[in-house]
Parts: sequence; C-alpha cells; structure tokens
Amino acid sequence: MSETAIKDMAEATTVISNIQQIKTVSVIGAGTMGNGIVHVFAQNGYKVQMIDIAQPALDKALANIGKNMDRQITKGSLTEEQKDAALANITTHIDMEGGLSGADLVVEAATENVDLKLKIFKDIDRLAPAHAILATNTSSISITRIAAVTSRPAQVVGMHFMNPVPVMKLVEIINGYATTKEITQVIYDLSVHIGKVPCVVNDYPGFIANRILMPMINEAIISLQEGVAGVEEIDTIMKLGMAHPMGPLQLADFIGLDTCLSILNVLHNGFGNPKYAPAALLTNMVQAGRLGAKSGEGFYKYTSGSKELVVSDSFAGNQWK
Ligand SMILES: NC(=O)c1ccc[n+]([C@@H]2O[C@H](COP(=O)([O-])OP(=O)(O)OC[C@H]3O[C@@H](n4cnc5c(N)ncnc54)[C@H](O)[C@@H]3O)[C@@H](O)[C@H]2O)c1
Repeated sequence: MSETAIKDMAEATTVISNIQQIKTVSVIGAGTMGNGIVHVFAQNGYKVQMIDIAQPALDKALANIGKNMDRQITKGSLTEEQKDAALANITTHIDMEGGLSGADLVVEAATENVDLKLKIFKDIDRLAPAHAILATNTSSISITRIAAVTSRPAQVVGMHFMNPVPVMKLVEIINGYATTKEITQVIYDLSVHIGKVPCVVNDYPGFIANRILMPMINEAIISLQEGVAGVEEIDTIMKLGMAHPMGPLQLADFIGLDTCLSILNVLHNGFGNPKYAPAALLTNMVQAGRLGAKSGEGFYKYTSGSKELVVSDSFAGNQWK
C-alpha cells in the first residue's frame, strides 16, 4: 500500500479532534431549526449539506435562509457578496447517503420524536464517515439514549441551538454519559468560532434550558385553561413584570406546540414527577393541529407578512370583561 493510501486511511478513521479538521457539516432536518443551523454554518464558510425527507421542505428552507440573509443585509451585518458566498456553500439532499458523504460533523435537527431520532442515528452511524462527530439539536431527548444506538457513543454530543438560530447567541452543549471531553471541547470551540456562546451541561431530562423553561410555559397554559387570565394578560404580565422579551404563550407558539408537548412528555417520563404533566389544553391544541406560528395558529393567529399579534379566536375575549 502506498504511503498516501496509508495516510488517507489513517485520516479517515481518526476522530475529529480540533475544529480545523471540520470542513463539511451535514444538517438533518430543514425545518425551523435546521434552516437556521445551515444558515449559520454556511455564513461561517462551512460546506453544508442540508438533508430532509422531501424536496419542498428543502426549497422552503433555502428560500427562508435567503430571506433571513436579506434581513441581515438591510441591517448592515452582511453584504450581498457574503450572502452569495454563503448560499453557494449549501447543497440540498433528500437521500441520507449523499447528504452524509464526506461529513466531518453531522447536526441532527429533525422532528422531536424519540423513535424517529433513534432510527435516524442508526442510519447516520451507518452512513457518515467514521471520523465524524454526531451532534443532535434535540431539546430534551437523552443524548445517552441516542448515542447508545450508534457504534460510536463517545462521538455523540448535544448541540442545542436556540430559535432563531442566526440571532440567538446560546448553544447548550450536552455531554452524554459516554461523550469524551475531547469531543465536547471541539463542539465548544466550534460554537465560539461561529459566533455563539456555549454552555456545557450534563445529560438529564430537559438539560437546563427546557427543564426550567417548559414548566413555566406549561403553567401559563394551565392558567389559561383554568380561566385565571386571558392570553394577552398572561403574556403581558410576564413581559412587563419579569422583563421577558416575549410572553410564555407567544414563545410556545414560536417554539411549536408539538415540540413543547414532546419536551414536557420527556420531562414527565424522565423524572416521573406529576409536576411536569402537560396541560390538557396543550395536548388538545396539538391534536387539533394548532401548532403555533408554523401552522398559522396557536394561542395567536399568524398571517404572513404581518407582525401584529392577534389572539386566536379560540381565546378571544377575556372572561372578566
Ligand atoms: N423550534 C424550536 O424553537 C427549537 C429550539 C431548539 C431545539 N429544537 C429542536 O430542534 C429539532 C427540530 O425542531 P424544529 O422546530 O426545527 O422542527 P420542524 O418541525 O420545524 O422541522 C423538522 C424537520 O425535520 C424533517 N424530518 C423529519 N423526519 C426526517 C428524516 N427522517 N430525515 C430528514 N428530515 C426529517 C421534517 O420534514 C421537518 O422539515 C427538534 O429536535 C427540536 O426539539 C427546536
């Protein structure tokens, strides 16, 4: 075997140990979070392979990224040339095999569903290069459980971006039970490199962000369900009284009510404590397809192009009036 072939083989199996070795990032799922993650990596010069199950989802994500970059241009934080260069870094794929080829890092941002993620990670493990780091953007599913279905649990880590990804600074990095310190360090350095502020936490249900946020959102929904106050009152109290930039019900709409429900179920099952049981109203809304901003209606209704906050007809009119 030639010296180059031996070197190539060694490189192919040496696990990524510093950010200079990361050139190609594959992102699985082109929804709310996936397109933001693609945006940030592409803008920072990475070759990004965006994967989803259907071409329309990929087309919509690309259009969104373009629109969000135009907003950055208007604000003066990006030039037309930088936008073109970033978009040229992105390729779209509906086949996992093509989309994972040559990946140094995979960031999974598909729908929040345990069985789906376990299946996706088995596929990623089979198809992505052996040296690649496998990260998940899950909001709540155990990193350790996801890692356990792969043959490389030491290389599996949580990389939890916040919504909207291009704007929000935080990346919550989650150590799985088997994640090595070296892998966590690479993801930490990479997060800094792409302009984010990383915080490392350990793998317990909901990690930190959602363990604290979701019970607040759930309590707001239970308060609405009990008629303690209306949508506007609950959100205004939390905005003006606690200096939150948006109220918990608007935030729930923004996150997606299906995602909120899944996270509460993970907390409820993971800790076995009834304090995390999702509000019946939340379950009803998800079953009715009222998923928040992405479905056009949740606690508020959303019309494309309008920024006005209009309470959904289901909750219009405050009980005390
Ligand atoms: N929405 C938020 O505010 C938020 C914040 C942080 C983390 N997260 C997490 O990010 C992940 C994605 O959430 P989202 O809000 O972007 O969801 P979303 O519903 O907007 O998008 C999910 C995307 O995954 C795609 N998908 C489903 N199965 C797939 C498969 N097998 N292969 C490839 N793509 C597949 C869907 O077609 C869809 O485009 C979830 O794990 C969620 O918990 C969400």
